[in-house]
Amino acid sequence: MVIQSFNLKIEHKKSNFVTLNIQFMLGLKLATDPRWVNIVESNIEEILTDHAWCEQKAASNAIYIIVNNSEKEELVTEMTRIALEEMEHFQMVHNIIKEKGLVLGRERKDNYVNDLVKFAKKDGSRNDALVERLLFAAMIEARSCERFKVLSENIQDPKLAQFYRDLMISEAGHYTTFLAFAKQYQENINVDKRWKEWIEYESAIIGNYGKQETVHG
Ligand SMILES: [Fe+2]
Ligand SMILES: [Fe+2]
Repeated sequence: MVIQSFNLKIEHKKSNFVTLNIQFMLGLKLATDPRWVNIVESNIEEILTDHAWCEQKAASNAIYIIVNNSEKEELVTEMTRIALEEMEHFQMVHNIIKEKGLVLGRERKDNYVNDLVKFAKKDGSRNDALVERLLFAAMIEARSCERFKVLSENIQDPKLAQFYRDLMISEAGHYTTFLAFAKQYQENINVDKRWKEWIEYESAIIGNYGKQETVHG
């Protein structure tokens, strides 16, 4: 199967159109309240540290999938690309931290991701575990993409706004890739049905968030 990479060229004159398309594509039930950006702006150091570690965890997730599915050539190829991109994102965030004269803090806990872990099925075959892991990753990419959209549209710092806009496009591509692989490898699991369950669960927990200066907080 050929993975359709999400390769939108940003045209600034049409930026609203691009944004609306991304929102529609993600299929998330609840949007983040833009007032969350005010909380973020009150502590840029915290969001940057948390964000850097989000990128590291995304790279680690792609490596985890490689380690557990080494025989799947196409998957390993794409997960290698994603791991490299996520570490490139980590480097970009770290560069911003350095430019601002700040220091990368210690790794932060991600309560949102921990809530998603609780929902993930732990039984089933090795293949079932792969499909569930891919859906878990797609869910995190979808919400991260939405959070970057809200940041890009509301943050005052124009450089950070452009940075989050670029990341929004990249994470949307990862979301598409994870979901496409989940469908490609489905055997016992009906991915469309299971994905709807993930979306429902996420909509039930996301109301607890949007109150902290972290990417998913
Ligand atoms: Fe990323
Ligand atoms: Fe990503």
